[in-house]
Amino acid sequence: MVKVIGIYGSPRKKGNSDLLLDSALRGAQEQGADVKKIYARDLKISGCRGCDGCEKSGKCVVQDDMQDIYHFLDDAGVIILSSPIFFYGLTSQIKALIDRGQAMWWKRKLSRGSKDKKKNYGGRGYLIAVGATRGQNLFEGAQLTARYFFDALGMSYEGGLFFRGIESMGAVKEHPEALQEAYDFGKEVVTIG
Ligand SMILES: Cc1cc2nc3c(=O)[nH]c(=O)nc-3n(C[C@H](O)[C@H](O)[C@H](O)COP(=O)(O)O)c2cc1C
Repeated sequence: MVKVIGIYGSPRKKGNSDLLLDSALRGAQEQGADVKKIYARDLKISGCRGCDGCEKSGKCVVQDDMQDIYHFLDDAGVIILSSPIFFYGLTSQIKALIDRGQAMWWKRKLSRGSKDKKKNYGGRGYLIAVGATRGQNLFEGAQLTARYFFDALGMSYEGGLFFRGIESMGAVKEHPEALQEAYDFGKEVVTIG
């Protein structure tokens, strides 16, 4: 049974990106996936200090809620990030979690040559993002961040779902086709690969 982690990036409970990820995870669950939800807004995760502490051990020295998250990231077959676009990027809540993924990059690098080498290779990462405006490059920044986060985890970035022109709280409910698309997407990501 594939393990699917959904990471919620919005500070808004039941906001647009929450509802889209809820739909996707429902689809994944109905397909038999083992689903875990992580809400970045509920965690106390400080930014990466850039202290290089993880360079020696592959473990982050900062003792906060991120310590409970690493093993989920380690075990995931599929990770779906979901976030509104804030200033053409991801929210600071999810970005803090992403930056702390640096320890996993070092962990992989340090394990090269050991039997742990391939751990997590083959895992797939996706992004669901929603923004209020319609700019052509609206999702570029968020996608680059997602791509290199998944790279740090030894997973491939496989793209995702992107919705423009959705702003107010729960506005995505006026777009049932978007929620349906997210549901279908959730089903699909656990059946491929
Ligand atoms: C601090 C802040 C920055 C934002 N920056 C952008 C932006 O750069 N581009 C955009 O299209 N929408 C921007 N938005 C709008 C949100 O992306 C939009 O309202 C989205 O639907 C919120 O999703 P949520 O309900 O999941 O939080 C911003 C909203 C906030 C609060």
